[in-house]
Amino acid sequence: MRWMAAEHPEIDLANPDSFVHEVPYGWFDHLRSEHPVFWHPERAPNQGFWAVTRYDDLTAIHMDWRTYSSELGAVSLEELDDEQLEIRKSMLETDPPRHTELRAICSKRFSARGVGKYEDWIRDVARDVLDRALPMGEFDFVPEISRDLPIRFLCSIFTVPQEDAPQLISWGDQMIANQDPDLSRAVIDRDDTEAFRLLPFRSPAAYEVFDYADRQRDLRLADPRDDVINALTVAQSEGVLNEQEFHNYFGVLMIAGNETTRHTISHGMLALMEHPEQLKLLQEEPDRIPRATEEILRWATPVHHFRRTATRDLELRGAEIKRGDKVVTWYSSANRDEEVFPEPYTFDVTRTPNDHVTFGPGGPHFCLGAHLARLETKILFQELLPRLKSIELAGPVERIRSDFVNGIKRMPVRIVAA
Ligand code: HEM
Repeated sequence: MRWMAAEHPEIDLANPDSFVHEVPYGWFDHLRSEHPVFWHPERAPNQGFWAVTRYDDLTAIHMDWRTYSSELGAVSLEELDDEQLEIRKSMLETDPPRHTELRAICSKRFSARGVGKYEDWIRDVARDVLDRALPMGEFDFVPEISRDLPIRFLCSIFTVPQEDAPQLISWGDQMIANQDPDLSRAVIDRDDTEAFRLLPFRSPAAYEVFDYADRQRDLRLADPRDDVINALTVAQSEGVLNEQEFHNYFGVLMIAGNETTRHTISHGMLALMEHPEQLKLLQEEPDRIPRATEEILRWATPVHHFRRTATRDLELRGAEIKRGDKVVTWYSSANRDEEVFPEPYTFDVTRTPNDHVTFGPGGPHFCLGAHLARLETKILFQELLPRLKSIELAGPVERIRSDFVNGIKRMPVRIVAA
């Protein structure tokens, strides 16, 4: 049976405008309680999807990759034909065993040990970022603080010049925020993007990213280095990656390593401004910051959903899912599931346990960059909070227009440094 959206015409999770002012948590609460596996129609040419909103169901789906495949698309709701799928495929859109092979190319570099050795360096960059921003007193927190740390770190593990950071940021924004006219030249649900249908996120910025990746590869072919791009270059030389897989791999790392951590940091700061007693607690007891980082990640949930496709007919909580149906797992909902998180709408930096699904609920695609994102977020707040005498909003917070990424694009703040 398909619980029809006709009963709930107001629920429109496939519309980026639904997420502009706030995350529509009320809809998610309703779906979790009344229709946890809900048939959600979409505008043509898309055919609709199952919206899955309960924590336990997300986990079961992500663990069972044979039934819920990533091969027919994982990122965004866009339905792809065979040609698009083939050419846009990255590790996100593959199942084991190929997925395991792709992930192995650089998984060690993103392990706890792999990123742990950069801890001092990340701390130095965080201090540098704060030294420049805090004396301004009143500024936009997003470009001055949240955006800088992740991209500078990415430049360092890519061993590309730090001067390239603004360009990488702009490409990442254009691709992932392809529903926001402020950030993208080709807005996917408003402009004619047919000419870009074979590019990731249908974004023309991908051409420039691929050229950039080629130049970096050629530099390493001439003069090998110990970095992530070198690992991709070797994989291509050895035939493990073909050219388009090399491009798509580079693109995924560039976007993932840039956007999501930025939004985590912005949401974390906003939550602490809105909950001054929690801010005070962390300033008085900074040892709590590592645990608080998990609550910031749960609270922020910078990626709303990923998707899978059913490989067979099946039933889930009474819903009859057909082979080929899109199954969309909503992290924003699972991270507020009252069955798992007592008082889920309370921001509690001491929350324990806190098994959020911000990096995915497990399974083969669990976020490759989770250790890195955790480390960057923790260090940023460890360095920032002791340096704040006070912080408050100095203007309206503006969110990215997107049903995929839960991002903040502007957050003016007024700071008195300690
Ligand atoms: C707070 C920050 C981050 C969040 C919220 C986040 C979220 C996620 C999520 C939800 C997935 C699962 C995708 C799926 O199930 O299909 C994922 C996968 C991935 N993430 Fe992250 N991510 C973050 C930071 C990073 C960073 C810093 C990197 C590295 C540069 C990264 C690289 C990746 C990659 C390569 C994958 C694909 C893994 C695979 O398919 O096996 N992420 N991320």
